[in-house]
Amino acid sequence: MALSSQEGSLNVGLPIASISDDRRLLFPTSADLNRAWDLGIFYLKLPTNIDLDGARRFGRGLIAPDNPYRQIPKYGELEGFIALENNQQTKLALSRQHWDQHYPSEIAEFGRQLDEIGITILREVLRQSGIPETFWERASGGYSAGAGTAFLNFVHYDTRNPDQGLRPHTDYGLITILDITAPGLQIKVNDKFEEVPVFPGHLAIHFGEALNFITTHSDRTVGAIEHQVLSQKSTDPIRHGIVYFANPDLAGVLWKFDAQGRVKGSSSVADLFALLEKNLTEHR
Ligand SMILES: [Fe+2]
Repeated sequence: MALSSQEGSLNVGLPIASISDDRRLLFPTSADLNRAWDLGIFYLKLPTNIDLDGARRFGRGLIAPDNPYRQIPKYGELEGFIALENNQQTKLALSRQHWDQHYPSEIAEFGRQLDEIGITILREVLRQSGIPETFWERASGGYSAGAGTAFLNFVHYDTRNPDQGLRPHTDYGLITILDITAPGLQIKVNDKFEEVPVFPGHLAIHFGEALNFITTHSDRTVGAIEHQVLSQKSTDPIRHGIVYFANPDLAGVLWKFDAQGRVKGSSSVADLFALLEKNLTEHR
């Protein structure tokens, strides 16, 4: 998406939203919302009911080699205790259906609180898109109605590995919620990577490819932001973080609607993600 350098610059910081008592996403001004939608990233004031410190403690504990949660079994390629290839990132990843079985109850509850945040944000994106509400659930592969797939992951960066922290990429899902505790995340604005500053008391929210896909023919298309994490050195503070991915049902279908509710396209989630993976690989 073309942005003037003034609109795109992070010099004045990212826009900041909050969630109201009636569970709406609010920005101080419409200009802030517009900037968030144009950039594809914003900060969200941490809702007061969320025990972020407890979740951080759980995440930091995973760095110890003898932490028992490192033994959580792998489910396919996406879940379990995983070290990524060609990246420093190491993570414990679980989808919503496995939270109660493997995470402590307060961490499973934390995940459900992030579900609520993800749904609130998605509903605001769809409201702005003009797509009639009756189609939101179908468009989003169930996520807007509390289904779909969600991942709650605890990550850290293994500095014994000299690779980049995370290579440049876009996220494939709908919305990503991040707890950032140390510098290193950068987003691409006007073809240039810029640092996303750490902002205590706030979560960073960014949009993914599936959200771009379903809003393509709507009145308000949003784009997936390209981002990377710089290589972390052993002299840096350990970089750990919490990442929540709001996804459609991975075995389902995404639909593109216009503001009149007409179907303008569709794709199985598997096909869309495979195409994105192919493009990512080709750009490497
Ligand atoms: Fe990412």
